[in-house]
Amino acid sequence: MERTSPQVHRIITLSSGLSRGSNLLAIHRYFQKENLPIQIAYAVFTNSQAQAIANANAEGISSLVIPIRDPQLFEERVLSLIKTQDISLVALCGFMKKVSADFIRKAGVPILNIHPALLPKFGGKGMYGTAVHEAVFKAGEKLSGATVHLVDEEYDRGAIIRQESIDIGFCSSPEMIASAVLEIEHKIYGPSIRQILLSR
Ligand code: GRF
Repeated sequence: MERTSPQVHRIITLSSGLSRGSNLLAIHRYFQKENLPIQIAYAVFTNSQAQAIANANAEGISSLVIPIRDPQLFEERVLSLIKTQDISLVALCGFMKKVSADFIRKAGVPILNIHPALLPKFGGKGMYGTAVHEAVFKAGEKLSGATVHLVDEEYDRGAIIRQESIDIGFCSSPEMIASAVLEIEHKIYGPSIRQILLSR
């Protein structure tokens, strides 16, 4: 059952490097299309050159750049944002860095990640971006997909919230797998956040 209270859940997203930002836009559009009381308060980027910043701003999403040269300082600044801005969830959207156990504990809100494979397969250190799809392709998998999971102190290991698979038997390259999987990512991330914030 979903809450009927008008409370708006404010979330932040974290994206590192030259992030593309497609999941960020997909969740934002999902919240709007479904008229949900969930709002991206800030999209946080570690790199001011990320193309995703312009895309986010164009859709009315407030963005913030917090450099990650000093990871501890980065975490302190994000924690301060969480506390002062009444943030109820953190969604990693192309955030390729590990967050510390201390950060997870102090954040005190769910932290979600989306991974472009069917965890627990094809996850862990170094398994991100094209490396994932190349490994899936090399292994001759007939299915791949995406996984939304809670973040803990190990890469890609936290409790699975939602997972959906797609037939990749027709894919003749890792790039084809990546694009099939991306469609699944865009489909499941928004509903997963909704499930965490609005379901009892
Ligand atoms: C996605 O493939 C996601 O699974 C992974 O990082 C990528 C981010 O892509 N964690 P985008 O910036 O959302 O387009």
